[in-house]
Order: sequence, then structure tokens, then C-alpha cells
Amino acid sequence: MKSALVLGAGGFIGGHLVKRLKREGFWVRGVDLKFHEYAETEADDFVIGDLRDQAFCRTVIDRRFDEVYQLAADMGGAGYIFTGEHDADIMHNSASINLNVADIAHKRNINRVFYSSSACMYPAYNQENPNDPNCREDSAYPAAPDSEYGWEKLFSERLFLAYNRNHGMANRVARYHNIFGPEGTWDGGKEKAPAAICRKVARATSDDTIEIWGDGLQTRSFLYIDECLEGTLRLTRSTFEGPVNIGSDEMVTINQLVDTVADIAGKTIHKEHIPGPTGVRGRNSENSLIEEKLGWRPSQTLRQGLEQTYSWIETQVRRNTPASV
Ligand code: NAD
Ligand code: GDD
Repeated sequence: MKSALVLGAGGFIGGHLVKRLKREGFWVRGVDLKFHEYAETEADDFVIGDLRDQAFCRTVIDRRFDEVYQLAADMGGAGYIFTGEHDADIMHNSASINLNVADIAHKRNINRVFYSSSACMYPAYNQENPNDPNCREDSAYPAAPDSEYGWEKLFSERLFLAYNRNHGMANRVARYHNIFGPEGTWDGGKEKAPAAICRKVARATSDDTIEIWGDGLQTRSFLYIDECLEGTLRLTRSTFEGPVNIGSDEMVTINQLVDTVADIAGKTIHKEHIPGPTGVRGRNSENSLIEEKLGWRPSQTLRQGLEQTYSWIETQVRRNTPASV
């Protein structure tokens, strides 16, 4: 039986990845600071601990797993990474995890680690035009990410690729573009726009007004979790090391995102645009490279993914609202 190690298995993408690997017949060990908040883990072995601690890392990366996925990070949406308040923690925590994982995997003769970088590593100067952002993989330099989160991602993708060059590893690096779906953070400050908008619409009644950060004309693309996993597994099992975008190229404004969610909910929703952390003005996944190297690109529509996500968040909102309100 093949075995896999999922670091960050108590999180959104890691939790889904464990389920997918179990369906494929893997024996899976999950590792995280915490259990998953919204689902029982399906991992055969789930170890709670801190990957910033080298000694702990050595105890969980203790043999030659067939596949290793490094998803553990200090991360969140715009409300977490763009305020500046968490910069030191984000850089220290995530860099410590990655330094430990890359080195201990190498010393345990693990040949390949999948590393989840982010579109946040792309230079801000290429993302000023909301209608025509440039996120081609080869546009990364001169580097100028707009957040410390993005700088740490850039550093760590270079770290994993340096182990390839100097130690004969075959690490794989993906740059995820805003992944969403059920069982992701939807409240509390770390949630990203799709979950935040679904929550606000679910809590509203028809004809209510919800708050949107910025003028809503900033653009993004959002990738549904199932397609993120498909791209992740295909890259990990391919001969291509990356970095490569794993994202949707269906770019929308945040206002369009709100309108689509409102339509799915069957509610008339008005928007109040308020100041907030907005990040880059425009971002979209550029998918030529993934198609060329892996013969695959995401194809599901945003609406399809939002229907699944809204339904799950609407249930969470109902469960978390006192009956008397
Ligand atoms: P998440 O926050 O849901 O999951 C990350 C998990 O890492 C959390 O469960 C957290 O507890 C765990 N973790 C953090 N510090 C740890 C530590 N010191 N030791 C052990 N575990 C620790 O995030 P996610 O959305 O599942 O993202 C997974 C990865 O993909 C992250 O590296 C993230 O930066 C990257 N990424 C995600 C997106 C996205 O849109 N979700 C976009 C770009 C990149
Ligand atoms: N989170 C959130 N909540 N965003 C909102 C809201 C709200 O209520 N209203 C408007 N927005 C706007 C944000 O201001 C931002 O301009 C846009 O929606 C997208 O916000 P997020 O989804 O939170 O983050 P992001 O796309 O800027 O960055 C995310 O994606 C990266 C990869 O592409 C983050 O999750 C990063 O961690 C990730 O690496």
C-alpha cells in the first residue's frame, strides 16, 4: 500500500487532500497544530504538533513516504495578510516550517515534497490594471510581492527548488490562486472573499445591504477545491518541477462575485463599499504553462463551485445562529 504524508491536514486544502488520497487507497498520516474544525479526519494516523519544532518534524517525517504534501502555513485572506499586523508571525512561522520540512525530508531520503506557494508572490506592479493583470510564471522577477506573506512564499519556493539543484531532490512547486469550497474557513478573520461573501449573503435577508471592502471593481479568479486537488496530484506525479499556477482563469470583479452568490441564494442584495484591506487591484491565473506541461487545466465554472460552497456555508450560518434571532 502506498503511503502519503499531509502537513497541514487540519486545514482546508489538507483536509480535502486526505479524503482524496484515502479514496485512492493510500495509507495517510496527517499532521497539524489542530484537528480539522469542520470534519472528522479520514487520515489513518493524525499527529498534533508544531512543525516549527525541528524535533517534532523529525518524529513525523520518520520514513520514506511515497508522497509528501507541505500545506502547513500561517495564512488567511485579505483581512489577515494585508493588514500588516501579522507580518512577523507569518514570515517566522511559515519559513520555520518550510526550512524544517525541506531539510528533514532530504535527510530522510524523501525524494519529493509538494510545496504550496501562492499567487501572492507575483509582483504588485503587474497587477495594477484590474482588466489585464499579468501572472505568467515567468513574470515573477524583478520580485515585488505586495505582502510579507508573498515574500515568504517566494523565499520558500526558492528553498525547495534549491534542494532540487543541490541535493538531487525532485520537489514540486505550485502557485495556488484563491482556492475555495466547503469546509474552508468562513468566519473569524482569516476567511477569503468567496466564503466571506457567502456568509454575508446567507446572514442577510432579501433587500438587505452587505459591506464589501473597496469599490468592488478589483478582480480575482477563484478555483474550486476539487480542481485544486486534481492539479496538485497531477503536478506531484509529473516530471515537471514548476513553479506553475494552479488557478482558474475565469476572472471576475468582487462585485460580480457578490451578484453571483446573491443569485444562487435567490436574494436581492445591495452593496455598501467600505474601506478595507484590498490587496492587488487585479489578479488572474495564467494557465498556458500548466496546459503545456501537464496537458490539463481547470475548467469548472465559478458558479458551479459557488453553488456547493454557498450551500455548505448557509448550513453553517443556520447552525451558528441562535433560534431566537
Ligand atoms: P489553512 O489555514 O486552512 O491550512 C493550513 C494549516 O496549517 C492549518 O490547519 C494550520 O493549523 C496548519 N499549521 C499552521 N502552522 C502550523 C505549524 N506550525 N505546525 C503544524 N501545522 C501548522 O490553509 P489552506 O487554505 O488549506 O492552505 C494550504 C496551503 O496552501 C498554505 O500553505 C497556503 O498558504 C497555500 N495557499 C492557499 C491558498 C488558498 O486560497 N486557500 C492560496 C494560495 C496558497
Ligand atoms: N476576505 C474578504 N472579506 N475579502 C473581501 C471582502 C470581505 O468581506 N469584501 C471584499 N473583499 C475583497 C478583498 O478586499 C480583496 O480585494 C478581494 O476581495 C479578495 O480577497 P481575499 O479572497 O480575502 O484574498 P486575495 O485574493 O487578495 O488573496 C488570497 O488569495 C491568495 C492566492 O491568490 C489569500 O487567500 C492569500 O492567502 C492567497 O495566497
